[in-house]
Amino acid sequence: MDHFLYRDGALFAEDVPISEIAAAVGTPFYVYSTATLLRHFKLFDDALEGTDHLVCYAMKAASNQAILKTLAQAGAGMDVVSGGEYLRAKAAGVPGDKIVFSGVGKTADEIRTALTGGIRQFNVESEPEMEVINAVALELGVIAPITVRVNPDVDAKTHAKIATGKSENKFGIPISRASEVYARAASLPGLEVIGIDVHIGSQLTELEPFELAYNKVAELTERLRAEGHNIRRLDLGGGLGIPYNRSNDAPPLPVEYGAMIQKTLGHLGCEIEIEPGRLIAGNAGLMVSKVIYVKSGEDRDFLILDGAMNDLIRPAMYEAHHDIVAVQEPEPGVERQPYDIVGPVCETGDTFAKQRNMPPLAPGDLVAFRSAGAYGAVMSSEYNTRPLIPEVLVNGDQFAVIRERPSFDEIINRDTIPEWL
Ligand code: LLP
Repeated sequence: MDHFLYRDGALFAEDVPISEIAAAVGTPFYVYSTATLLRHFKLFDDALEGTDHLVCYAMKAASNQAILKTLAQAGAGMDVVSGGEYLRAKAAGVPGDKIVFSGVGKTADEIRTALTGGIRQFNVESEPEMEVINAVALELGVIAPITVRVNPDVDAKTHAKIATGKSENKFGIPISRASEVYARAASLPGLEVIGIDVHIGSQLTELEPFELAYNKVAELTERLRAEGHNIRRLDLGGGLGIPYNRSNDAPPLPVEYGAMIQKTLGHLGCEIEIEPGRLIAGNAGLMVSKVIYVKSGEDRDFLILDGAMNDLIRPAMYEAHHDIVAVQEPEPGVERQPYDIVGPVCETGDTFAKQRNMPPLAPGDLVAFRSAGAYGAVMSSEYNTRPLIPEVLVNGDQFAVIRERPSFDEIINRDTIPEWL
């Protein structure tokens, strides 16, 4: 459920008409709903009620300071994957002991930043990385809390570009080598082993792969405990999928996911961490764009929008489906017609949808891409010197621009000219 609904024929974000935001900030833009962000965070938090837990929002999904602050004030921890994300979390007021640091290639500088500013734990991805964390901790005279990310060799049954839990993927250490790696970790004086981490992929639409992975984590917990490690925290990653196509998709609900976690891991008495990103931010955001032209081709018609692949890359990159709706609600029973919906960028990949049935639309009309809150703004670029589009946050009947659209001068002046030119 989200808070983008039609009222009297017009699409609203909570209590604000989308058309009012478009008039104020211009198109295209991203708009997020505070109520939806908080609702989704709470669904996870409630799903783990009764278990010692922390929901660490995977901020890679949408990392605007205003979004982070909204979630942090509700009690969320954060999952970060770079020094930059770590600093964003701190800037949004998240205390170090609620920040977990994931990612396959943490540099010594990033590790230093986190150890200096405070960190809940590093999720270690490889043996060489473990040695570097140890060395930096010793240099700073602190102890680094760690889990080791294990790769359970489970098929997440999701898009190949976002599956991470198979042995051929670059993530984590093979679960079969865990004993050896944990023994080494325990021998390093700059590290404190506190738990196990696993994340098998993103946009999972079934519970079964999670359950297979978590059962392996349960077995491993018992084995490592028997080997003398004090395993007391399990980080279960993110990955629960969302219904991108509202008429077809029905992924499991957070409450079902939470019950499965309790069932597979509850008996171990560990603190549970989860790292959802997409489910918190995805359906809490729209990308709003304007029709520039309606073009009749030889065998098909095109809706040419002012938004493009540089603003929302998911369709081009993952063949992802986003529902696209008219901001002015179509009359009931109005005839729909198929269009290829495209942006103005000079490549055929700049296609949002092929042969999508849409109500009649004319130049100047607004359309909204649903489920664009996660991996939308954060993956955008200024390809074709198209400025990064603004982000807007709605809260009840208020809205605020939370990232401005840069001017062309700002963009051009970021480049510097060598003295020989
Ligand atoms: N934890 C770790 C270690 C991750 O790598 C990820 C996502 C998450 C948590 C959050 O997963 P989520 O709950 O959002 O599924 N750009 C792609 C998605 C990439 C996901 C990368 N890792 C897309 O647009 O579909």
